[in-house]
Amino acid sequence: MFDLSLENCRVDRDLTVNIGVDDGKIVQISRERIDASEKIDLKGYFVLPGLIDAHVHFRDPGLEYKEDFRTGSMAAAHGGFSTVLDMPNTVPPADNAAEFERKIRIGERKSVVDFGLHAGFRSVSDVKGILRFMPASFKVFMDLTGISAVDGLFRELKDLSAPVPVTVHCENRDVVMESMKELKDRSDPSAYALARPPLAEEVSVAEVLALSIHHEHPVHICHLSTVKALQLVEPFREYVTCEVTPHHLLLDSGAFRRFGTMVKTNPPLRPPESRVYPEFLDRINIIGTDHAPHGIEEKRKGIWDAPPGIPNLEVVLKLLLTLVSKGRMSLSTIRRMLAEEPARIFGLRSKGRIAEGMDADFTVIDPKETGRIRSDEFYSKAHYTPFEGFSYTGAPVMTVVRGRTVMRDGEVLEGNGRYIPAEHDGKPGTAESEAELS
Ligand code: DOR
Ligand code: ZN
Ligand code: ZN
Repeated sequence: MFDLSLENCRVDRDLTVNIGVDDGKIVQISRERIDASEKIDLKGYFVLPGLIDAHVHFRDPGLEYKEDFRTGSMAAAHGGFSTVLDMPNTVPPADNAAEFERKIRIGERKSVVDFGLHAGFRSVSDVKGILRFMPASFKVFMDLTGISAVDGLFRELKDLSAPVPVTVHCENRDVVMESMKELKDRSDPSAYALARPPLAEEVSVAEVLALSIHHEHPVHICHLSTVKALQLVEPFREYVTCEVTPHHLLLDSGAFRRFGTMVKTNPPLRPPESRVYPEFLDRINIIGTDHAPHGIEEKRKGIWDAPPGIPNLEVVLKLLLTLVSKGRMSLSTIRRMLAEEPARIFGLRSKGRIAEGMDADFTVIDPKETGRIRSDEFYSKAHYTPFEGFSYTGAPVMTVVRGRTVMRDGEVLEGNGRYIPAEHDGKPGTAESEAELS
């Protein structure tokens, strides 16, 4: 007898199955009844593989007043995510073996959901030590790091025969500095979009593409925000994958007028003519939330001093399901961009698919639930969102991590999140296209 049977799981439009779980793994998928000590009837709700957010900032250690691993992971569970990959710009940064290992311990103590970690990059001498812990990627911020330092990272990974992707924040430092000069005296929030213009991103993407092709090494471009940056990436899918955030997908620079510095983020929101739209999703690998919480008082500091970033974990799935309800995207696109592709790109081999032998991670969806987004219901410490009051159709009703229910009907329960080491195969290229379901 198995530990758990999830009954009446609608895993495809025309396919409802029962799923047997034992010891945290999927052990049987069947139309027949499965004998188990616990049974949960999912009544024909849609069941997706547990969703993975490959881009979160949990601020732990060092900036726990903004978020910590416990509240961040509770926000993840609440939003329907069973796994997150945390970014290294904590304090001190996770850019050497000791800090990287420390962060694994913090997550294992506090996290409700499973997690992996992106490593920071400070010096090539730290790369080998970090590799022992199997990072999801090495993350570099091109607005802070010079191109020759990044070239050094590629060389070191090559020398060590490590197919770990380089994950990149693409904004060219020189273009940003030059653009800022002319705008320093302005204090209106919309000046921020001009200070870090589309060209900064496009130049940086081109530089990183050149490095990737030169070294034949996988690169993942974070939060791609302009249509021209997307055009640059497209011929190089063999080595390069890319990501879009919910805010770049759904908002444009006009949002500065309404929300002020709350929507300050890097890269900034773009004007309608250069931004990306939901209709482009077929050309993009993953949706990452870039959940970047800050204190609300800090966010009010004025356009140049307010820290950049928007908290997204608890809104993204409702926003996307609303697009599904309007026929602007399909549920299979959510499955591809928030489960299959992040698992494949970042080497999470036990995650991302519902199949026997995989971790029993599930995101259960009620496509008909309606309501309005309310930031006072967030588990995140950041209780604000530009999507406040947005009326949604479709919501996660349950999150399961290795057979354990960590969220049910909007309430987050106890969890036991584990560190998931990444096992990369060095093949970033887009997976063969799969049949679409609606
Ligand atoms: O808006 C952003 N916020 N962009 C980044 O690259 C960093 C992030 C943060 O850590 O707050
Ligand atoms: Zn970034
Ligand atoms: Zn980020």
